[in-house]
Amino acid sequence: MKIVKLDAIDSTNSYLKNLIKQTIVENWTVIVAEHQTNGKGQFDNKWVSDKGKNLTFSILAKFKGLKVIQQFYLNYSISIALYNVLKYYIPEKLTVKWPNDILSANHKICGILIESSINNSKVNHAIIGIGLNVNQEKFSSKLVNVSSLKKVLNKAIDKDELLDKILLEIQYQLHLIDQQKFEEIKQEYESILYKKGVPSMFIDTNNNTFLGKVIGVTNGGKLQIELDDESLQEYDLKEIKFKNLG
Ligand code: BTN
Repeated sequence: MKIVKLDAIDSTNSYLKNLIKQTIVENWTVIVAEHQTNGKGQFDNKWVSDKGKNLTFSILAKFKGLKVIQQFYLNYSISIALYNVLKYYIPEKLTVKWPNDILSANHKICGILIESSINNSKVNHAIIGIGLNVNQEKFSSKLVNVSSLKKVLNKAIDKDELLDKILLEIQYQLHLIDQQKFEEIKQEYESILYKKGVPSMFIDTNNNTFLGKVIGVTNGGKLQIELDDESLQEYDLKEIKFKNLG
């Protein structure tokens, strides 16, 4: 594993992506930045993180036999890895909000942005970007339901130690992907899903509010929700939000 530590960069995901265009980059190259000037989040959002306080890093993972239709297992396994490490720090109320936000109670502490490069029907490689709020205590008022390890635990956390643990756990989870242990990954992921089995309010793309409960995820990577009339509905990314969380 090659770890490159940078002081400041636009985005560790973008940096890795450009590097791959220019040269052959070793599998398991990790780019860590103390500061990102243009951190990227999901759905074209920005990822904002105070300089030096948090973990912002990206990992290059190459694959041989991972099919495009299986790539959401990669999302699940990375969420599981983060969950497994963070639960030692926060044993209670830690969950994964579909598809891959790590929450402490109702507060997001970690976001994951996976950008895959596809060749025919296979995933050639993925850039796994992780933003974990570690020691930041103040967040912009525009960011609601956000927290950090320090805010939850009331103590500062050693970032390097935490990063080592995360990289080790991600390596283990990616090993399960290589071994195609998809059913195990799905079950594990479903067991840590936010609000699983709990009646909750959702908003769909037409701004309709409705009551339902998360049942799990489908083999196609969609979120499965049981509606009030006990029927099952499947939702893709962007098709549904928890009402009070976004
Ligand atoms: C999300 O929106 O929840 C995903 C956030 C991912 C942020 C990380 S920080 C390191 C890596 N580089 C980026 O530009 N984004 C990801």
